[in-house]
Amino acid sequence: MNIVVLRLGHRPERDQRVTTHVGLTARALGASGMLLASDDRGVINSINEVTRRWGGDFFARSVDSWKQEVRQWQESGGNVVHLTMYGQNLPGVLDEISGTESVMVVVGAEKVPPDIYQVADWNVAVGSQPHSEIASLAVFLDRLHATRGTDPLTQAFQGGTLKIIPSVRGKIVKEV
Ligand SMILES: C[S@@+](CC[C@H](N)C(=O)[O-])C[C@H]1O[C@@H](n2cnc3c(N)ncnc32)[C@H](O)[C@@H]1O
Repeated sequence: MNIVVLRLGHRPERDQRVTTHVGLTARALGASGMLLASDDRGVINSINEVTRRWGGDFFARSVDSWKQEVRQWQESGGNVVHLTMYGQNLPGVLDEISGTESVMVVVGAEKVPPDIYQVADWNVAVGSQPHSEIASLAVFLDRLHATRGTDPLTQAFQGGTLKIIPSVRGKIVKEV
C-alpha cells in the first residue's frame, strides 16, 4: 500500500517541532513521504537528514498548492483520508479504507481549509475527542497496517549510516 501524508496549516513560527514529528512518525510507521503545504526548508531538511542517516527512501517536500496535489492524487486513482475529530469514527470505516491501494492522509494544525472536508474521500476521527495530529496519524497508520496484516515496526530501512542494535539496556548504535 502506498501512503503519503499531507500536512496542512503549518505555521513556521509555531509548528516546526510538531510538523517534524508528523514526518518522522509517518516515516517510522510505513508511509513513503510527507508533503508540506507550506514553505519551511528547515523542517524539510531535518526530516530528509533523518532519512539520509537512518535509511529508507522516505521523502519530504514542500508543495505550492495542496488542492493540486489532492486532485492529481485522486485523478491517478488514489484516495484521500482527512483526519479530523469531526469525522466518521475510524473503527466504522477502517475496512473500507484498507481495501484501497494508495492513500493520502491529511492532517491539520490549528485550522484546516474548509474545502478539505469536501474533497476528502473520508473524513475520519481517531476517536471523537480532540487530541493531536501526531497521535491520530500514529494510531491511524498502525490500525491500517494491522487490518492489512502488515507491520511497519518490522520494516527494513535500507541504506543510511546508522543502525540501532536493539538491546535490553543501554544504547547500541552501529555506524555502517
Ligand atoms: C490541534 S488539532 C485541531 C483539531 C481540529 N479542530 C480538528 O478538526 O480535528 C490538529 C489536527 O490534529 C488532528 N486531530 C486531532 N484530534 C483528532 C481526532 N480525534 N481524530 C482525528 N484527527 C485528529 C487533525 O488532523 C487536526 O487537523
